Amino acid sequence: MTARVALVTGAARGIGAATVMALAAGGWRVIAVDRCADDPALPYPLGSRGDLDRVVAEAGPAVIAAQADTRDPDALAAAVRLAEERWGGLDAAVAAAGVIAGGVPAWQVPPEQEQAVLDIDLGGVLTLARVAGPALLRRPQPRRGPDPARGAAGLGRRARRRVRPRRGPHRLGPARRRGLRAAVYGFGSRD
Ligand SMILES: NC(=O)c1ccc[n+]([C@@H]2O[C@H](COP(=O)([O-])OP(=O)(O)OC[C@H]3O[C@@H](n4cnc5c(N)ncnc54)[C@H](O)[C@@H]3O)[C@@H](O)[C@H]2O)c1
Repeated sequence: MTARVALVTGAARGIGAATVMALAAGGWRVIAVDRCADDPALPYPLGSRGDLDRVVAEAGPAVIAAQADTRDPDALAAAVRLAEERWGGLDAAVAAAGVIAGGVPAWQVPPEQEQAVLDIDLGGVLTLARVAGPALLRRPQPRRGPDPARGAAGLGRRARRRVRPRRGPHRLGPARRRGLRAAVYGFGSRD
């Protein structure tokens, strides 16, 4: 079976690094992304290039480092392109890059720290979804389990019957049921 491919942000240490190691141990290929630089808005050090290189070296040859800030859509898109060019596609995107601020009442958190938390912990995740989503959808089909893009079509016959209204005012004829299912799930199945 072809190895699956993931992109993991925040990969230089912590949760991101642990995710990279676990995926590599499970046979995945991984683009390991990190900013690799401190953020002037934050009072503590972030992961370094040395940290990221150590993770990649320990994880083995199926992992590639990519330096990118999750607030930078072009840099993240380049990491996605790297996955597609090197390994033919992307199967998972893990947003583990995150920062923290606080330890004081919310109204005393310095505004630049609060902004960094919002931009990275929220904005960075949305940016990853924006740049990785199309690549994930370019993959032909999941190789195991139901295909979420096809809704109930990926489920067994018994599960499909559950989406069919059986009685009451909402009972529809077969043609209208097919139309409804096509509208909801993007396919028209047989009755
Ligand atoms: N560790 C925990 O138990 C825990 C629990 C709950 C929530 N969290 C949150 O999860 C997130 C990750 O936790 P962690 O323990 O792995 O943190 P960490 O600080 O050990 O690692 C975060 C990594 O993300 C990278 N990073 C930060 N901003 C980035 C950006 N803009 N672009 C690219 N990379 C960036 C850092 O360089 C670092 O390598 C944090 O937001 C943390 O607050 C952690």
